[in-house]
Amino acid sequence: MNDGRDRLRIAVQKSGRLSEASLDLLRRAGLAFRASRDKLFLYGENLPVDVLLVRDDDIPGLLVEGSCELGIVGRNVLDEQRLAGGEAAAPVALLDLGFGGCRLAIAVPDGGTIESIGDLAGLRIATSYPALLADWLRAQRIEAEVVLLAGSVEIAPRLGKAHAICDLVSSGATLAANQLRELTTVLRSEAVLAASPRPRGAAATQLVERLGARIAGALSGAG
Ligand code: PRP
Ligand code: ZN
Ligand code: MG
Repeated sequence: MNDGRDRLRIAVQKSGRLSEASLDLLRRAGLAFRASRDKLFLYGENLPVDVLLVRDDDIPGLLVEGSCELGIVGRNVLDEQRLAGGEAAAPVALLDLGFGGCRLAIAVPDGGTIESIGDLAGLRIATSYPALLADWLRAQRIEAEVVLLAGSVEIAPRLGKAHAICDLVSSGATLAANQLRELTTVLRSEAVLAASPRPRGAAATQLVERLGARIAGALSGAG
């Protein structure tokens, strides 16, 4: 609805922890969809609202540039964007969604020599959340090197790219599968409904409000 579109776009994680619950919530909010052939797009059949299926970490950028008006994303991803990109351009969190609970944690190889957070001094830590990690390290007064990886952060220690990682932990299965153990929690997070900071026209504003109210209704069991 920015750039002359006449349909609203909502960005949802394509495959991952938030995908199922996000689509389920939109269905409970009363949206009906039909999948595009490439499965990257869900066409809204009963409202002028389409779902874009993307990497969760790309959602803040899509909201900031106005390619999507709404998104469902972990609060930590928004916090990272705010720290890295500045308050002015940051997406706006509208609603806590009550799913996708997880923590951003520091994890280290099982049976290794890192036993306390002080032991991280001088080491390399791999993460997809460099601003959140740097912020935490500063607060803890630990000087360590932040190694940015876009994905598969959990294999960095085995590859010798880093001594430790800072990544999201939900069930703990990813850490266990990679012989890593949690050292400490950096930040807790859950899924939020977020909106683009870009100004929108009257029709889009009305649709965002209507959708927000329906989602809030679904969350409180009224939907
Ligand atoms: C996070 C994290 C792990 C996984 C941890 O990925 O990077 O891959 O979830 O969950 P677990 O403790 O239940 O195993 P995310 O959902 O951000 O997807 P992405 O890595 O594709 O961005
Ligand atoms: Zn992610
Ligand atoms: Mg991951």
